[in-house]
Order: sequence, then C-alpha cells, then structure tokens
Amino acid sequence: MNSWTGLPIVIFGTGGCAKEIKALIDEINGLMYQTIYNLIGFITNDKSEVGKKIEEVEIVCTNDEFQFLCRDFPFMGVVIGLADPFSKKKIRKNIEDMKVSNIVFPNLIHPLANLSQSINNKMGFGNVICSGVNMTVNINLGNFILLNRSCNIGHDVTIGDFCTINPSAIISGNVNIGELTLIGAGASIKEKISIGKNSKVGLGAIVVKDVYDSTTVISVAAREMDK
Ligand SMILES: CC(C)(COP(=O)(O)OP(=O)(O)OC[C@H]1O[C@@H](n2cnc3c(N)ncnc32)[C@H](O)[C@@H]1OP(=O)(O)O)[C@@H](O)C(=O)NCCC(=O)NCCS
Repeated sequence: MNSWTGLPIVIFGTGGCAKEIKALIDEINGLMYQTIYNLIGFITNDKSEVGKKIEEVEIVCTNDEFQFLCRDFPFMGVVIGLADPFSKKKIRKNIEDMKVSNIVFPNLIHPLANLSQSINNKMGFGNVICSGVNMTVNINLGNFILLNRSCNIGHDVTIGDFCTINPSAIISGNVNIGELTLIGAGASIKEKISIGKNSKVGLGAIVVKDVYDSTTVISVAAREMDK
C-alpha cells in the first residue's frame, strides 16, 4: 500500500505573497495528480492571527512556537511566503536559531515553469519558481529566491540569496544580481549588467548601466532614485 501523504509543509507569512504560495502548492498538487506537499498551515508573527483561516487553511502558530509544531512530524517543509528580501533573511535566521533538525527547505517549482533548457542550471534551496517563468541555460540561483510569474531569466545569469524577481521582469544574459535585491515587476535588465546587493529596481525600469550596492533605481533609462 502506498502511504505517501505528501511532505508536510508550512508557509511563513500571512499576506498576499503567502496566499500566492498557497495557490502555487495547490496547483503543484493538482497538476501532478497527487499530494506532493501537504500544507499544514500558515505561520504568523502576530499572535492575534493564530486560529484564523486563510482560504480554509489555518494560521497554526506564531514564529516562536513553530519549533514545537515540528515535533509532531518526521519532516517539516518550510517555504518563506514573503516578498521583501530582508524579511526573508530575518525569518531564515529565526528558523536557523531554533536548531530544529527535521526542517527541509524544498524548491517549489510550478509544473508550468519552463525549465526545459536548464540541464546545466544550479539552484540552492528554499526557492519559489512560479508559473510562466522561463529559464534558459547556465543559470545559478542561490537560496530563498522568489521568481514570480512570467519572469524571464537568460543565459549565464547569477542571482544571489533572498532576491525577489517580481512578475514579468526580464533578466538578459550574463547579468549578475547580488543578494537581497528586489527587481520590480516588468523591469528589464540589459545583458552583461551587474546589480549590487541590497538594491532595488523599480517596476518598469529599463536598466542599461550597472547598479551599485544598496541603491534604488527607477525609470527608463534607469537612474538612481532621489533620496
Ligand atoms: C522603486 C521602489 C522600490 C521605490 O519604493 P519607495 O522607496 O518606497 O519609494 P516611493 O514609492 O515612496 O516613491 C518615491 C518616488 O519615486 C517615484 N517612483 C516610485 N517607483 C517608481 C517607478 N517604478 N518608476 C518611476 N517612478 C517611481 C514615486 O512616484 C515617488 O515620486 P514622488 O517623490 O515624486 O512622489 C518601488 O516604487 C517599486 O517600484 N517597487 C517594486 C514594485 C513592484 O514590483 N510591484 C509588483 C509587486 S508583485
């Protein structure tokens, strides 16, 4: 008898991104015709939310209580359902500090993401790859990266830990993006550009020059945003 009931998994976060990740999990299970992930619930940083439901799924506990929840399961999958890179890093650190040994950070990949050319690509853990994402060749992804719907990642691209690439962004070939950087929806990055760590590219920006660390750029052609 097959007793597989899916990897138990929780989503850290209760906002829009967390809801989208719930939908992603539902779609993975639906399109694969089996329970790949068994969603246990959402984890919140707001005690007053515990016990409430998001689309029929319970907010099961606070971040601090999560380590106790893990005792009830042989393995516990975690996905960080937040778009802000610094918030993702903070949650990752909190979880690490709990020193719970049965936690895994799967890469959640929508079956309709096009990774068909990606035989030489590398990927860490805890990444989320949404439907309609296109990835070509020699791409190096770190950990806890969100590639939101329909973004395009060209050849020889490197993306650092905790980055968020918002919907429909276009990352051309030979681009390097440092850790903790946000690329806004619909932004386009010209080939061979380096984008520093802790930076932000505004939605709709066209980036044709390198972006320094900890810098926000906007507009066409992208320029540094006034401070
Ligand atoms: C660039 C960005 C990071 C700046 O955020 P912020 O520091 O909070 O700045 P604000 O939103 O306060 O905007 C500051 C100024 O820049 C302008 N601005 C902000 N984003 C802009 C953009 N993408 N293009 C052009 N101008 C922009 C604002 O109109 C404002 O101008 P003002 O001072 O004349 O009123 C943010 O606006 C952005 O584009 N984030 C990505 C959003 C996204 O991808 N959304 C999709 C989610 S799925």
